[in-house]
Amino acid sequence: MEPAEVFPLDALAYLQCALGFLGSLLLRQAASSYGRYVSPGAAFGVPARAAWALQELPSLAVPLWVCARTAAERLRRAPNRILLAMFLLHYAQRSLIFPFLIRGGKPMPLYTCVLAFMFCVYNGYLQSRYLSQYAVYTDDWVTDPRFLVGFCLWLIGMLINIHSDHILRNLRKPGETGYKIPRGGLFEYVTAANYFGEVVEWCGYGLASWSIQGGAFALFTFCILLTRAQQHHRSENTLYTAGCLFHRLGLGRGSLWEAVENRQSHQKEKMLKTHLLSSPLGTGEMALRCAHQLHHMSLTFLANIKVNYVGCFL
Ligand SMILES: NC(=O)c1ccc[n+]([C@@H]2O[C@H](COP(=O)([O-])OP(=O)(O)OC[C@H]3O[C@@H](n4cnc5c(N)ncnc54)[C@H](OP(=O)(O)O)[C@@H]3O)[C@@H](O)[C@H]2O)c1
Repeated sequence: MEPAEVFPLDALAYLQCALGFLGSLLLRQAASSYGRYVSPGAAFGVPARAAWALQELPSLAVPLWVCARTAAERLRRAPNRILLAMFLLHYAQRSLIFPFLIRGGKPMPLYTCVLAFMFCVYNGYLQSRYLSQYAVYTDDWVTDPRFLVGFCLWLIGMLINIHSDHILRNLRKPGETGYKIPRGGLFEYVTAANYFGEVVEWCGYGLASWSIQGGAFALFTFCILLTRAQQHHRSENTLYTAGCLFHRLGLGRGSLWEAVENRQSHQKEKMLKTHLLSSPLGTGEMALRCAHQLHHMSLTFLANIKVNYVGCFL
């Protein structure tokens, strides 16, 4: 690689860190606009399977193009080859297998799909260009504790991610599109076990590559997925609380439960309040009953549901 390219590749990595922080801040203001947070009337939705396949494909195609286009000198070294294979293996699963396993996924807004596509081009180029042309490792790097621990974390994280996505998919019976509280696997301990696995995976990759580029991708993933995991955490708490409250107050879940499920968190809370205030009971009596039920539920919750109060992510 030309020495002149060292600086741009480092600059791209620092920019990726900045984008991770910025993305996290923006997502805190407005929930990421796909999946359960997509507005019911959102225009230009791309079918979920097509969206995932198209937007993730550059992470596979760009590295292959980068390596085929120029002599990938550094790929003669085993550590570079293994690290690039780790990256490609993940994205082969994500772009060629994951989309075709989705059940009842909601259409992806076009702009979300375009942003994800651009990120995959950017990151695919950054990681593959760095590993194929620039990264210098000695041959014994593969026995270095940083590489070994990083590789194990990457593998464990990927298995957790794939297993947790499998659990999520199987929550729905054919034809269903609603949301349920996931159980089993690491969902017994964290709300968003699939995101937890993905973060562990890329932290492992960052450690094994011991580079600004690998670390930047891990940090970006952490920033984005932590924010979305916190939103899932709140959303599932609201669903669970609303469901229990309605059930215990004898209001039933029925169509309101379905309606609540399909709206964003703040709307769910608003609907819950509106429904409670317009119920046949007086508001004072309702408030007392709510307080009593919430107290009772929090104890039940702690005893029976290991997730949610413990933490959304870690
Ligand atoms: N590296 C990164 O920066 C990054 C960023 C985003 C995602 N990802 C990865 O991409 C994969 C998918 O991400 P995602 O954000 O779509 O995950 P997600 O919100 O957890 O959804 C995954 C799938 O499971 C369904 N699902 C989720 N929660 C459910 C519930 N409680 N009940 C029933 N079905 C449920 C979703 O359906 P709906 O589509 O209908 O909601 C979707 O099809 C994950 O492995 C994630 O780690 C990586």
